[in-house]
Amino acid sequence: ISQQIDSLCARNPIIPVIVVEQAEQILPLARALQAGGITILEITLRSDAALDAIALAKNELEGITVGAGTVVNEKQMDQVLAAGAEFIVTPGLSVDLLKCAKSRNVPFLPGVATVSEIIMGLDAGFDRFKFFPAEAAGGLPFIKSLHGPFSQVRFCPTGGIGLHNYLDYLKQPNIMAVGGSWVVPNDAVKQGDWERITEITRSSLAPLQK
Ligand code: 3PG
Repeated sequence: ISQQIDSLCARNPIIPVIVVEQAEQILPLARALQAGGITILEITLRSDAALDAIALAKNELEGITVGAGTVVNEKQMDQVLAAGAEFIVTPGLSVDLLKCAKSRNVPFLPGVATVSEIIMGLDAGFDRFKFFPAEAAGGLPFIKSLHGPFSQVRFCPTGGIGLHNYLDYLKQPNIMAVGGSWVVPNDAVKQGDWERITEITRSSLAPLQK
């Protein structure tokens, strides 16, 4: 599972955290991200349209990895897998979620915000985590402190990350990717301003390609 997550993140150091109110929005949105260079989607279960959006994205789009986010229980895990999700992200973890992800053998990024949760994850065989809510839970100083005791662990911080700080996060050796909604602003999605999404994506990726 670590290797699968690592290869997803190596291709996509920025993971867009997406909320769509209408499932069909996912298609132009994903194409806008793709035009800017992002080929991964974390479609969050924060709207009723999410499962349909996952299925649409999976069936209609080429060259894009479709993931599900804000998955918080076993039932949702099975729902997103049935819809076609290729990886699953949770904002936090429980022993049940870890067990369930293992048994489904799906690339899984469990959320942590404390050292004890990291230890629970490690016990279950996971060493790649979402760090959420990153800025509120300690931000970069927290992640830097973990590099010594947990040198094998890698994080994808999300929550409060944006243009002002994403590059600082990505410079950290124990950070494999960052996630956030800044590349898919709510108002741009609502207005169907896909060009703006391509533009933000492109300018966010540009410094990483040097
Ligand atoms: C997440 O689930 O990863 C966060 O809600 C994204 O946080 P952001 O909106 O602050 O980027």
